[in-house]
Amino acid sequence: MAVKTVFRMGHPVLREIAEPVTEFNTPELKSLVKDMFDTMEARNGVGLAAPQIGVSQRVVIFSVQENPRYPDAEHVPETILINPQIEFLGDHVTEGWEGCLSIPGMRGRVPRYEEIIYRGYDPQGQRVERQVSGFHARVVQHEVDHLDGVLYPQRIRDMQAFGFEEELNGHEN
Ligand code: NI
Repeated sequence: MAVKTVFRMGHPVLREIAEPVTEFNTPELKSLVKDMFDTMEARNGVGLAAPQIGVSQRVVIFSVQENPRYPDAEHVPETILINPQIEFLGDHVTEGWEGCLSIPGMRGRVPRYEEIIYRGYDPQGQRVERQVSGFHARVVQHEVDHLDGVLYPQRIRDMQAFGFEEELNGHEN
């Protein structure tokens, strides 16, 4: 078990364009994914991108089961997604609250495409392709943004809908 440090907003690794993975099914990739799950679970996250633990590679993980940070969120299957690409379906955008382990204690209301197809690979190099909507689509867009050096505050349209979780509780409109 290796719970890694999660770098916070301001660290340069979070602004980099991450490198594609070129070799699958390697011990290094396996160990990276294991560290990412250990770290995400230790922090009650629903998703994590490799750059957040200082590894600038195009690897994200996500999983929404019962999560105290997102009590009302719908279930999202545990997924490892490598070299992901997103195709936006239609132009329907919805706003929803997001947090990020790299921006602890804060939440913001972020516009995201409602429906997407995502494609990529699993650690064995098998293709992954899913058409999803709602919170599942939101989580994937958030995580894939990390691979392009983008954090959710950069997507917020109304900066009044950004603040500390403890202050927002009960005031989230
Ligand atoms: Ni994040």
